[in-house]
Amino acid sequence: MADKIAANNEKKQKVLSLIQPSGTPTLGNYLGALKNWKDIAEQYDCAFGVADLHSITVRQEPAKLREQVRNMYALLLAINLDPEKNIIFIQSQVPTHAQLAWILNCYTQFGEMSRMTQFKDKSKTHTDNINVGLFAYPALMAADILLYQANFVPVGADQKQHLEITRDIAERFNGLYGPTFVVPEPLIMETGGKIMSLQEPTKKMSKSDSNPKSFISMLDKPDMVMRKFKSAVTDSDAKVEFKKGKDGVNNLMGIYSCCTGKTYDEITAEFEGKGYGDFKVAVAESVIEELRPVQESFEKIIKERAYLEDCMKNGAEIATKISQRTLDKVMKKIGFYQFKG
Ligand code: TRP
Repeated sequence: MADKIAANNEKKQKVLSLIQPSGTPTLGNYLGALKNWKDIAEQYDCAFGVADLHSITVRQEPAKLREQVRNMYALLLAINLDPEKNIIFIQSQVPTHAQLAWILNCYTQFGEMSRMTQFKDKSKTHTDNINVGLFAYPALMAADILLYQANFVPVGADQKQHLEITRDIAERFNGLYGPTFVVPEPLIMETGGKIMSLQEPTKKMSKSDSNPKSFISMLDKPDMVMRKFKSAVTDSDAKVEFKKGKDGVNNLMGIYSCCTGKTYDEITAEFEGKGYGDFKVAVAESVIEELRPVQESFEKIIKERAYLEDCMKNGAEIATKISQRTLDKVMKKIGFYQFKG
Protein backbone atom coordinates (compact mmCIF):
# COMPACT_ATOMS: atom_id res chain seq x y z
CA MET A 1 0.00 0.00 0.00
CA ALA A 2 2.70 2.47 1.06
CA ASP A 3 4.60 1.60 -2.10
CA LYS A 4 1.57 2.31 -4.15
CA ILE A 5 1.09 5.72 -2.60
CA ALA A 6 4.76 6.55 -3.08
CA ALA A 7 4.48 5.58 -6.73
CA ASN A 8 1.40 7.76 -7.03
CA ASN A 9 3.12 10.75 -5.48
CA GLU A 10 5.95 10.40 -7.93
CA LYS A 11 3.54 10.41 -10.80
CA LYS A 12 4.03 13.63 -12.70
CA GLN A 13 1.21 16.08 -13.09
CA LYS A 14 -0.33 16.40 -16.51
CA VAL A 15 -0.11 19.25 -18.97
CA LEU A 16 -1.96 19.58 -22.23
CA SER A 17 -1.77 22.14 -24.99
CA LEU A 18 -2.86 22.36 -28.59
CA ILE A 19 -1.86 24.75 -31.33
CA GLN A 20 -3.87 25.66 -34.41
CA PRO A 21 -2.29 24.83 -37.76
CA SER A 22 -3.08 28.21 -39.28
CA GLY A 23 0.17 29.15 -40.98
CA THR A 24 3.72 29.02 -39.65
CA PRO A 25 3.95 30.26 -36.05
CA THR A 26 5.76 33.53 -35.49
CA LEU A 27 8.78 34.36 -33.39
CA GLY A 28 6.20 35.63 -30.88
CA ASN A 29 4.47 32.24 -30.75
CA TYR A 30 7.86 30.60 -30.39
CA LEU A 31 9.32 32.75 -27.61
CA GLY A 32 5.98 33.10 -25.81
CA ALA A 33 4.83 29.49 -25.98
CA LEU A 34 6.53 26.82 -28.09
CA LYS A 35 10.01 27.40 -26.71
CA ASN A 36 8.66 26.65 -23.23
CA TRP A 37 6.99 23.43 -24.30
CA LYS A 38 10.30 21.62 -24.32
CA ASP A 39 10.95 22.58 -20.68
CA ILE A 40 7.38 21.77 -19.70
CA ALA A 41 7.77 18.39 -21.36
CA GLU A 42 10.67 17.63 -19.07
CA GLN A 43 8.77 18.44 -15.90
CA TYR A 44 5.32 17.11 -16.65
CA ASP A 45 3.49 14.27 -18.29
CA CYS A 46 2.46 16.02 -21.49
CA ALA A 47 0.11 15.78 -24.42
CA PHE A 48 0.52 18.20 -27.31
CA GLY A 49 -1.76 18.47 -30.29
CA VAL A 50 -2.47 20.15 -33.58
CA ALA A 51 -5.95 21.68 -33.28
CA ASP A 52 -7.20 21.14 -36.81
CA LEU A 53 -10.83 20.75 -35.74
CA HIS A 54 -10.66 24.24 -34.29
CA SER A 55 -9.14 25.63 -37.45
CA ILE A 56 -12.17 24.81 -39.63
CA THR A 57 -14.26 27.35 -37.72
CA VAL A 58 -12.88 29.63 -40.43
CA ARG A 59 -12.75 28.42 -44.07
CA GLN A 60 -9.66 26.47 -45.03
CA GLU A 61 -8.45 25.42 -48.44
CA PRO A 62 -8.24 21.57 -48.28
CA ALA A 63 -4.76 21.03 -49.77
CA LYS A 64 -3.38 23.92 -47.74
CA LEU A 65 -4.92 22.64 -44.53
CA ARG A 66 -3.34 19.22 -45.06
CA GLU A 67 0.04 20.80 -45.65
CA GLN A 68 -0.23 23.11 -42.67
CA VAL A 69 -1.18 20.26 -40.35
CA ARG A 70 1.83 18.25 -41.53
CA ASN A 71 4.11 21.27 -41.14
CA MET A 72 2.81 22.05 -37.67
CA TYR A 73 3.27 18.46 -36.57
CA ALA A 74 6.83 18.44 -37.95
CA LEU A 75 7.51 21.71 -36.18
CA LEU A 76 6.46 20.18 -32.86
CA LEU A 77 9.06 17.48 -33.43
CA ALA A 78 11.57 20.10 -34.58
CA ILE A 79 11.35 22.00 -31.29
CA ASN A 80 12.61 18.76 -29.80
CA LEU A 81 9.48 17.35 -28.24
CA ASP A 82 10.02 13.64 -27.93
CA PRO A 83 7.20 11.54 -29.38
CA GLU A 84 8.39 8.60 -27.28
CA LYS A 85 7.97 10.52 -24.05
CA ASN A 86 5.03 12.79 -24.82
CA ILE A 87 1.82 12.26 -26.69
CA ILE A 88 1.88 14.30 -29.87
CA PHE A 89 -1.30 14.01 -31.87
CA ILE A 90 -3.54 15.53 -34.49
CA GLN A 91 -6.91 16.40 -32.99
CA SER A 92 -9.08 15.21 -35.91
CA GLN A 93 -7.44 11.77 -35.74
CA VAL A 94 -8.65 11.25 -32.18
CA PRO A 95 -12.42 10.76 -32.36
CA THR A 96 -13.04 11.26 -28.63
CA HIS A 97 -12.51 15.03 -28.99
CA ALA A 98 -15.52 15.58 -31.21
CA GLN A 99 -17.54 13.10 -29.15
CA LEU A 100 -16.92 14.77 -25.81
CA ALA A 101 -17.29 18.22 -27.35
CA TRP A 102 -20.88 17.37 -28.32
CA ILE A 103 -21.64 16.19 -24.83
CA LEU A 104 -20.10 19.29 -23.24
CA ASN A 105 -22.17 21.51 -25.56
CA CYS A 106 -25.17 20.18 -23.69
CA TYR A 107 -23.69 21.24 -20.37
CA THR A 108 -22.80 24.75 -21.48
CA GLN A 109 -25.26 27.62 -21.42
CA PHE A 110 -25.92 29.77 -24.46
CA GLY A 111 -25.51 32.83 -22.26
CA GLU A 112 -22.08 31.94 -20.93
CA MET A 113 -20.80 31.03 -24.39
CA SER A 114 -22.13 34.35 -25.71
CA ARG A 115 -19.82 36.21 -23.36
CA MET A 116 -16.63 34.85 -24.96
CA THR A 117 -14.68 37.82 -26.27
CA GLN A 118 -12.93 35.78 -28.96
CA PHE A 119 -16.30 34.83 -30.44
CA LYS A 120 -17.42 38.44 -30.35
CA ASP A 121 -14.21 39.58 -32.06
CA LYS A 122 -14.18 36.82 -34.68
CA SER A 123 -17.82 37.32 -35.57
CA LYS A 124 -16.92 40.91 -36.35
CA THR A 125 -14.01 39.96 -38.63
CA HIS A 126 -15.67 36.95 -40.33
CA THR A 127 -19.13 38.45 -40.89
CA ASP A 128 -19.78 36.16 -43.87
CA ASN A 129 -19.30 32.97 -41.84
CA ILE A 130 -20.46 33.23 -38.25
CA ASN A 131 -20.97 29.48 -37.92
CA VAL A 132 -22.13 27.45 -34.93
CA GLY A 133 -18.66 25.88 -34.62
CA LEU A 134 -17.14 29.30 -34.06
CA PHE A 135 -19.63 29.81 -31.26
CA ALA A 136 -19.16 26.36 -29.70
CA TYR A 137 -15.34 26.45 -30.07
CA PRO A 138 -14.71 26.65 -26.27
CA ALA A 139 -16.64 23.41 -25.66
CA LEU A 140 -14.28 21.62 -28.05
CA MET A 141 -11.32 23.17 -26.28
CA ALA A 142 -12.79 22.06 -22.95
CA ALA A 143 -13.09 18.53 -24.36
CA ASP A 144 -9.43 18.62 -25.46
CA ILE A 145 -8.36 19.49 -21.94
CA LEU A 146 -10.76 17.43 -19.83
CA LEU A 147 -10.29 14.21 -21.81
CA TYR A 148 -6.68 13.98 -20.61
CA GLN A 149 -7.47 14.99 -17.00
CA ALA A 150 -4.87 17.75 -17.41
CA ASN A 151 -3.80 19.54 -14.22
CA PHE A 152 -2.31 22.48 -16.10
CA VAL A 153 -2.76 24.22 -19.42
CA PRO A 154 -0.17 26.74 -20.62
CA VAL A 155 -2.23 29.61 -21.90
CA GLY A 156 -1.64 33.06 -23.24
CA ALA A 157 -3.90 35.97 -22.38
CA ASP A 158 -6.12 35.32 -25.41
CA GLN A 159 -7.09 31.84 -24.21
CA LYS A 160 -7.59 32.57 -20.50
CA GLN A 161 -11.32 33.05 -20.81
CA HIS A 162 -11.60 29.70 -22.61
CA LEU A 163 -9.78 27.99 -19.79
CA GLU A 164 -12.11 29.62 -17.28
CA ILE A 165 -15.18 28.33 -19.08
CA THR A 166 -13.51 24.90 -19.20
CA ARG A 167 -13.20 25.01 -15.43
CA ASP A 168 -16.84 26.07 -15.09
CA ILE A 169 -17.99 23.21 -17.32
CA ALA A 170 -15.84 20.69 -15.43
CA GLU A 171 -17.11 21.87 -12.04
CA ARG A 172 -20.70 21.81 -13.24
CA PHE A 173 -20.35 18.27 -14.54
CA ASN A 174 -18.59 17.11 -11.38
CA GLY A 175 -21.35 18.73 -9.33
CA LEU A 176 -24.04 16.90 -11.22
CA TYR A 177 -22.43 13.45 -11.50
CA GLY A 178 -19.68 13.32 -8.87
CA PRO A 179 -15.93 13.66 -9.48
CA THR A 180 -15.31 13.01 -13.16
CA PHE A 181 -12.91 15.63 -14.46
CA VAL A 182 -9.77 17.20 -13.04
CA VAL A 183 -10.40 20.96 -12.93
CA PRO A 184 -7.42 22.43 -14.83
CA GLU A 185 -5.31 25.40 -13.74
CA PRO A 186 -3.55 27.85 -16.05
CA LEU A 187 0.20 27.42 -16.29
CA ILE A 188 1.61 30.91 -16.42
CA MET A 189 4.86 31.23 -18.29
CA GLU A 190 7.56 33.41 -16.79
CA THR A 191 9.60 33.89 -19.91
CA GLY A 192 8.74 35.10 -23.35
CA GLY A 193 6.40 37.91 -22.55
CA LYS A 194 4.52 39.43 -25.37
CA ILE A 195 6.36 40.00 -28.62
CA MET A 196 5.02 42.93 -30.59
CA SER A 197 4.81 43.80 -34.29
CA LEU A 198 8.08 45.07 -35.76
CA GLN A 199 6.19 47.73 -37.68
CA GLU A 200 3.55 48.80 -35.16
CA PRO A 201 5.05 47.88 -31.78
CA THR A 202 1.86 48.65 -29.85
CA LYS A 203 0.20 45.68 -31.62
CA LYS A 204 0.92 42.02 -30.88
CA MET A 205 3.09 40.24 -33.49
CA SER A 206 0.67 38.23 -35.62
CA LYS A 207 1.07 35.88 -38.58
CA SER A 208 -2.20 37.19 -40.03
CA ASP A 209 -0.87 40.77 -40.20
CA SER A 210 -1.26 42.13 -43.73
CA ASN A 211 2.27 43.58 -43.59
CA PRO A 212 4.75 40.66 -43.76
CA LYS A 213 7.54 42.93 -42.49
CA SER A 214 5.73 43.16 -39.15
CA PHE A 215 6.36 39.57 -38.12
CA ILE A 216 9.11 36.95 -38.18
CA SER A 217 7.94 33.48 -39.08
CA MET A 218 9.70 30.58 -37.36
CA LEU A 219 10.80 29.37 -40.79
CA ASP A 220 11.99 32.71 -42.19
CA LYS A 221 15.44 32.32 -43.71
CA PRO A 222 18.36 34.23 -42.10
CA ASP A 223 18.54 36.94 -44.79
CA MET A 224 14.81 37.54 -44.45
CA VAL A 225 15.10 37.79 -40.65
CA MET A 226 17.94 40.29 -41.06
CA ARG A 227 15.98 42.42 -43.53
CA LYS A 228 12.89 42.50 -41.34
CA PHE A 229 14.83 43.59 -38.26
CA LYS A 230 16.69 46.23 -40.24
CA SER A 231 13.36 47.78 -41.17
CA ALA A 232 11.89 47.49 -37.66
CA VAL A 233 10.35 50.68 -36.30
CA THR A 234 12.32 52.36 -33.48
CA ASP A 235 12.39 56.03 -32.45
CA SER A 236 14.55 59.10 -32.91
CA ASP A 237 16.51 59.28 -29.66
CA ALA A 238 19.06 56.65 -30.64
CA LYS A 239 19.50 55.16 -27.18
CA VAL A 240 19.11 51.45 -26.45
CA GLU A 241 17.24 51.54 -23.16
CA PHE A 242 14.00 50.10 -21.86
CA LYS A 243 11.69 53.02 -21.22
CA LYS A 244 8.03 53.86 -21.38
CA GLY A 245 7.04 55.17 -24.79
CA LYS A 246 9.96 53.48 -26.59
CA ASP A 247 7.74 50.63 -27.77
CA GLY A 248 9.83 49.62 -30.77
CA VAL A 249 13.14 49.54 -28.87
CA ASN A 250 11.52 47.88 -25.85
CA ASN A 251 10.23 45.13 -28.11
CA LEU A 252 13.64 44.57 -29.71
CA MET A 253 15.24 44.49 -26.27
CA GLY A 254 12.67 41.93 -25.13
CA ILE A 255 13.46 39.73 -28.13
CA TYR A 256 17.22 40.10 -27.67
CA SER A 257 16.94 39.34 -23.98
CA CYS A 258 14.89 36.19 -24.68
CA CYS A 259 17.37 34.91 -27.25
CA THR A 260 20.60 35.74 -25.37
CA GLY A 261 19.57 35.60 -21.71
CA LYS A 262 21.00 39.11 -21.18
CA THR A 263 19.26 41.57 -18.86
CA TYR A 264 18.06 44.98 -20.04
CA ASP A 265 20.89 46.70 -18.16
CA GLU A 266 23.46 44.47 -19.82
CA ILE A 267 21.94 45.22 -23.20
CA THR A 268 21.98 48.97 -22.59
CA ALA A 269 25.64 48.75 -21.56
CA GLU A 270 26.50 46.65 -24.61
CA PHE A 271 25.13 49.28 -27.01
CA GLU A 272 26.28 52.37 -25.16
CA GLY A 273 27.45 54.87 -27.74
CA LYS A 274 26.35 52.68 -30.64
CA GLY A 275 23.42 53.37 -32.95
CA TYR A 276 20.24 51.42 -33.59
CA GLY A 277 21.84 50.01 -36.74
CA ASP A 278 24.29 47.88 -34.75
CA PHE A 279 21.61 46.95 -32.25
CA LYS A 280 19.19 45.74 -34.93
CA VAL A 281 21.90 43.59 -36.54
CA ALA A 282 22.70 42.02 -33.16
CA VAL A 283 19.03 41.31 -32.45
CA ALA A 284 18.60 39.74 -35.90
CA GLU A 285 21.70 37.58 -35.40
CA SER A 286 20.48 36.36 -32.02
CA VAL A 287 17.13 35.42 -33.54
CA ILE A 288 18.81 33.66 -36.48
CA GLU A 289 20.88 31.61 -34.02
CA GLU A 290 17.83 30.86 -31.89
CA LEU A 291 15.84 29.61 -34.87
CA ARG A 292 18.68 27.82 -36.65
CA PRO A 293 18.49 24.43 -34.86
CA VAL A 294 14.69 24.37 -35.13
CA GLN A 295 14.80 25.19 -38.84
CA GLU A 296 17.50 22.59 -39.54
CA SER A 297 15.58 19.97 -37.67
CA PHE A 298 12.34 20.93 -39.44
CA GLU A 299 13.94 20.65 -42.90
CA LYS A 300 15.13 17.16 -42.05
CA ILE A 301 11.91 15.88 -40.49
CA ILE A 302 9.56 17.27 -43.14
CA LYS A 303 11.36 15.13 -45.76
CA GLU A 304 11.04 11.96 -43.68
CA ARG A 305 7.45 11.36 -44.62
CA ALA A 306 7.26 7.78 -43.34
CA TYR A 307 8.76 8.67 -39.96
CA LEU A 308 6.41 11.63 -39.62
CA GLU A 309 3.37 9.52 -40.39
CA ASP A 310 4.50 6.83 -37.98
CA CYS A 311 4.68 9.42 -35.23
CA MET A 312 1.23 10.77 -36.16
CA LYS A 313 -0.34 7.32 -36.14
CA ASN A 314 1.29 6.35 -32.92
CA GLY A 315 0.33 9.63 -31.26
CA ALA A 316 -3.30 9.28 -32.34
CA GLU A 317 -3.44 5.73 -31.09
CA ILE A 318 -2.13 6.55 -27.61
CA ALA A 319 -4.24 9.71 -27.36
CA THR A 320 -7.34 7.72 -28.31
CA LYS A 321 -6.61 5.08 -25.75
CA ILE A 322 -6.07 7.51 -22.90
CA SER A 323 -8.92 9.86 -23.72
CA GLN A 324 -11.33 6.96 -24.25
CA ARG A 325 -11.15 6.18 -20.52
CA THR A 326 -12.53 9.61 -19.66
CA LEU A 327 -15.15 9.44 -22.38
CA ASP A 328 -16.34 6.01 -21.18
CA LYS A 329 -16.66 7.32 -17.66
CA VAL A 330 -18.67 10.33 -18.86
CA MET A 331 -20.99 8.24 -21.03
CA LYS A 332 -21.68 5.87 -18.23
CA LYS A 333 -22.49 8.65 -15.79
CA ILE A 334 -24.83 10.36 -18.21
CA GLY A 335 -26.72 7.12 -18.73
CA PHE A 336 -25.90 6.18 -22.31
CA TYR A 337 -26.75 2.55 -22.94
CA GLN A 338 -24.13 0.06 -21.74
CA PHE A 339 -23.96 -3.55 -22.83
CA LYS A 340 -24.41 -6.03 -20.04
CA GLY A 341 -22.12 -8.67 -21.55
N1 TRP B 1 -7.74 27.58 -28.92
C1 TRP B 1 -6.31 27.51 -28.82
C2 TRP B 1 -5.67 28.62 -29.64
O1 TRP B 1 -6.22 29.05 -30.61
C3 TRP B 1 -5.81 26.18 -29.30
C4 TRP B 1 -6.34 25.07 -28.46
C5 TRP B 1 -7.29 24.17 -28.81
C6 TRP B 1 -5.92 24.76 -27.14
N2 TRP B 1 -7.50 23.29 -27.81
C7 TRP B 1 -6.69 23.60 -26.76
C8 TRP B 1 -4.99 25.31 -26.26
C9 TRP B 1 -6.54 23.04 -25.50
C10 TRP B 1 -4.84 24.73 -25.00
C11 TRP B 1 -5.61 23.60 -24.63
O2 TRP B 1 -4.58 29.03 -29.32
